[in-house]
Amino acid sequence: MLHGHGNDLHHQQFKIKADFSSNVAPGGLPEALAEHLHKHLHLLGNYPEPDAAGATTAIARHHNIDSMQVIATNGSTEAFYLVAQQFRGQAALILTPSFAEYEDATRCHQHALTFLPHLQLGSELPGNFATVWLANPNNPDGYTWAPGLFKEHCRQNPETYFIVDESYTNLCPTAQSLIEGSMPPNLIVVRSLTKDFGLPGLRAGYLVAAPELAQSINRLRMPWSVNALAQEAIGFIMTHYRELLPDTTAILKESQRVQKRLVALPHLKVTSTDCNYFLVETKVSDAADLKNYLLQNHGFLIRDASNFRALSPRHFRLAVLSPDFNNQLLSAIQSWISQVC
Ligand SMILES: Cc1ncc(COP(=O)(O)O)c(C=O)c1O
Repeated sequence: MLHGHGNDLHHQQFKIKADFSSNVAPGGLPEALAEHLHKHLHLLGNYPEPDAAGATTAIARHHNIDSMQVIATNGSTEAFYLVAQQFRGQAALILTPSFAEYEDATRCHQHALTFLPHLQLGSELPGNFATVWLANPNNPDGYTWAPGLFKEHCRQNPETYFIVDESYTNLCPTAQSLIEGSMPPNLIVVRSLTKDFGLPGLRAGYLVAAPELAQSINRLRMPWSVNALAQEAIGFIMTHYRELLPDTTAILKESQRVQKRLVALPHLKVTSTDCNYFLVETKVSDAADLKNYLLQNHGFLIRDASNFRALSPRHFRLAVLSPDFNNQLLSAIQSWISQVC
């Protein structure tokens, strides 16, 4: 591991009352899923299927695609490292700002890296690349791409593989999934189950591509990378998908309410999104100071986004929680602004 994911929940000396830094959907682990996992703890007494075949079939059935297109993974992060291994040592283009693991995974596997601000991506790529990495919607700014755009890129750049991270697609109604039965041979879609189904600690995700490509990547994985409970969780989620998904309409409504309230505060610039999270830039002091203030005085953790490529020490990211916590956060931010101005 190089730098790792930016979540610093485990490094705090203060008691965390509310974690606005993680993009996991508010509400967390659905009760029915927690109960189901409790009942299946005995599975830990045996090795799981080495290739997570049952979970893979369940994912394929849910998307109505061929199971040869799917690899169940230990969170989406395992998928990024597998893809980086598949294209080891080649040229990669990473659109910024973006999730740090694209860079860490490709660096681990010695790719030659080029970074491009996502808004500068035009119809032509700025060079020859084996892979292009992006998320739809993007983290941290919730940017969404026009439907079909990357299929067109795949068609125009047959030598380049596009890795589209759909970890937050369920939580953002304006982002459209590219998963389907007939995927372009150079498209790889990666999905996380940890955000929408509230189980980042369990580690569950998957990759979808054309069968030949998916099976070529599958040969790189180690056996049992998806543990027994995670395999059980994937099967359960795929057969109860709609019931277990959080109320994304309510989450979006709350996110937009909080974004509006922040826009009304002085000295803040909000990059509005249709997601449960969004990026904010403070025009006074910096994100590190705000983060410390919120931690020390309120036990609120926010994501200082200054270590995202292309962002500044003034950027921070918030994910919404319950309306009550969100209101407390809004008041706390307002107090901080009055103090620093
Ligand atoms: C865009 C994006 N993709 C993937 C992940 C990692 O997801 P997982 O828990 O499935 O490894 C994150 C985590 O923050 C993320 O922000």
